[in-house]
Amino acid sequence: MSLEHRSILAKAVIFKISLAEKRDVFDIKKIIDGHRVDLGFIPKTAFSEAVEKGWLLVAKIDDVVVGFVRFRHRHDKTTTLYEIAVANHVKRRGIGRMLIYKLIEHARQYNQLEIKLKCPANLPANHFYHALGFQLVRVDKGKRRDLNVWRLEL
Ligand SMILES: CC(C)(COP(=O)(O)OP(=O)(O)OC[C@H]1O[C@@H](n2cnc3c(N)ncnc32)[C@H](O)[C@@H]1OP(=O)(O)O)[C@@H](O)C(=O)NCCC(=O)NCCS
Repeated sequence: MSLEHRSILAKAVIFKISLAEKRDVFDIKKIIDGHRVDLGFIPKTAFSEAVEKGWLLVAKIDDVVVGFVRFRHRHDKTTTLYEIAVANHVKRRGIGRMLIYKLIEHARQYNQLEIKLKCPANLPANHFYHALGFQLVRVDKGKRRDLNVWRLEL
């Protein structure tokens, strides 16, 4: 086996994406704790509400949550992405990409027309949204930092 093949295999992980259940919130909080600066303050109730509404997707490896995306399908046909994060030890393995693809699928089932989100302008996550085909709409002046507004037409 070539070195190139070995490094591809070493990077590969098998994960499953599904709607979150109540019991997943504990693991999600651990991921959030590791990304306090990137994600900012998220009220405690946000995740239990998202589970009830079906507005939370999780990626799991062996039944352990390693990534999530929280969102809302608004009545005006825009889906707002609130947060996305992947555990540090499995970053850059395509988990974030698959969470977005699943979100796109979910939003299309609800006849949504676009996905929108705001991301602090200084975060590496902006490269992620660009790589996934989101368009930068504008830059808003936030209280503490500039916020990039990204949009993906569905
Ligand atoms: C943003 C985040 C969710 C991406 O998840 P991920 O699973 O690591 O991303 P993927 O492996 O699916 O990356 C897909 C592509 O996005 C781009 N990308 C992802 N992370 C990147 C980074 N840090 N720098 C540059 N490009 C990046 C790459 O093009 C990548 O493809 P490649 O690895 O084949 O080059 C993850 O880095 C994260 O949890 N960040 C911290 C939390 C955060 O900032 N959330 C967003 C708040 S607005």
